Amino acid sequence: MAGNQISMHGQWSSRWVFILAATGSAVGLGNIWKFPYITGENGGGAFVLVYLACIAVIGIPIMMAEIMLGRRGRQSPINTMHTLAIEAGHSTNWQYLGWLGVIAGFLILSYYSVIAGWGLAYVVHASSGVFTGASVEVINNVFFDLVSDPKQLIIWHSLFMVLTMFVVARGVQGGLEKAVKFLMPALFIILLLLVAYAVQNGAFEQAVEFLFVPDFHALFYKLDEHGQEYLTWNGVLIAMGHAFFTLSLGMGAIMVYGSYLPENTSITQTAFMIAIADTVVALLAGLAIFPIVFATNLEPGSGPGLIFKTLPFAFGHMEGGVVFGTLFFILLSFAAWTSSISLIEPALAWLVESLGIGRISASIMIGILCWAAGLLSVFSFNIWSDVKPLSDFNIFKDSTIFDLLDYLAVNIMLPLGGLLIAIFAVWIMSREASMEELGMGDRFAYKLWRLLMRYITPIAVIVVFLNVVGIISFK
Ligand code: TRP
Repeated sequence: MAGNQISMHGQWSSRWVFILAATGSAVGLGNIWKFPYITGENGGGAFVLVYLACIAVIGIPIMMAEIMLGRRGRQSPINTMHTLAIEAGHSTNWQYLGWLGVIAGFLILSYYSVIAGWGLAYVVHASSGVFTGASVEVINNVFFDLVSDPKQLIIWHSLFMVLTMFVVARGVQGGLEKAVKFLMPALFIILLLLVAYAVQNGAFEQAVEFLFVPDFHALFYKLDEHGQEYLTWNGVLIAMGHAFFTLSLGMGAIMVYGSYLPENTSITQTAFMIAIADTVVALLAGLAIFPIVFATNLEPGSGPGLIFKTLPFAFGHMEGGVVFGTLFFILLSFAAWTSSISLIEPALAWLVESLGIGRISASIMIGILCWAAGLLSVFSFNIWSDVKPLSDFNIFKDSTIFDLLDYLAVNIMLPLGGLLIAIFAVWIMSREASMEELGMGDRFAYKLWRLLMRYITPIAVIVVFLNVVGIISFK
C-alpha cells in the first residue's frame, strides 16, 4: 500500500527541485525578519546557542521524520496520518495531528502575509530614494508611518495574499520551481554584501560578541512591570519554537512537500542541506543587522520593526544603496513568497482531496479566510496596539494580538505538532517501515536518529513546556 504510489497532486521533477522548494519554504521572514528581532529581545548569544542546539537535536531529526511520513503517505498531512496510522494498526485519531498543522499554518500565514506586506511596501520606499543619506529618525518615521496606517497595511497584505494564492492555485510545478532557482542564490549574495557593509561601517565586534558570546542571565531573567527581575524559561521556549518555525516544521509543510518527493532520494542528506542553508542565512542576517543596531544606538530588543529600522540605514549610506536596497526588499518578498505557499499547501491539498474541489476554488476560499484573519494582525500595529489581552501575565505583559497569535502558533502548536510527529515516527510506525523509508539500513546514523526521536526530542519539548507553564502559573 503506502510506499510507492505517486501523489495525486503531482511530483517534483527532481530531488534538487525538492531541496530548492524546501529551502525556499525554510528560508523566509523567519531568518531575516524574525531571528534578529527575537535574538535582540532575548539577550543575544545564549539565545542563539539554544536555537542552534534545537536545530541540531530537534529540528533535523524531525525534518527527516516529516519528509519520511510525507513520502510514505503521499497525501495531505491529514490523510497521510490517517493512512499511516491504519498501516501501523493504530487509531485513525492520528489524523488530528494533520488538523493541528492545518490550523497552525493558517494562523501563521494570516500574520506572515501582513509582515511580508511590509517587505513589499519597502520595495517602493527603497526605490524612491527616501533612505539616501537619511537620519535614524527619518528611517524610524518611515516605518512608523507605514504600520500606523491600517489602510496601507491592508493594501500590501491583500497584495501578498493574492500572490500566494496565485502560486498555490497553479500547483506543484507551475512556475515556482523556476523562480526558486534564481532567487535564493541572489538573496544570499545580497546578504553577503550587507555583511560586508556592516563589517566596514558598523560596530561589528560588538555585534559578534552580542550574537556569539552566551550570556545566560540575559536569556533567563526578564524585568516585570515594577522593574524587578524574574526567572523565566520563556526565552528557551521561543528559541525552540523558532527552530520549528525557521525550518518550517511541526505543521505538515515539509510533510506535504515530502509527499511530492520522488523515491530513492536520501532523506538524511536532504534534511541536512536544508537545515544548514537555513541556519547560514539566519546568521548572516544577524551579522548584517546587529553591527548597524549598535552603531546607530538602536535598542536590540526593539521588536518586529528591527530590520526595517536598521537595513535602510545601511542602504541609505552605501554606494548604490538605492539599487541594492530595492533589490534586497524584492528578494525578501520572494523569500516570504516561497515560504507562504508551504504554509497553506497542507490545507489546500486536504480540501482538494476531501471535498473534490479544484485547486483554484480551494485557494480562493482559503485565501479569503486567511486574509480576513490577517486583519487581527494589521490592527495590532495601530488601532488595537493597546489591546493586550493577557497583560496580567508577566511574559505577555506587552503582547498584542499579533504577538499572541504568533506565540500560540509558533511556540505552542509547532512544538506540540513536532512532538507528536516524533512519537508517531518512532513509537507508532514500525521500525521496518522507517528503516526502509530512510534507506540507510540499520547503521549508526539510523540508530542515532531513532534514539534522538524516541527520547531526546520528546523529553526536551516536554521539559521546556513544563518549565514555561510552571513559571507562568506562579504569577
Ligand atoms: N520557515 C519560514 C520562515 O522562516 C516560515 C514557514 C514556512 C513556516 N512554512 C512553514 C513555519 C511551516 C512553520 C511551518 O520564514
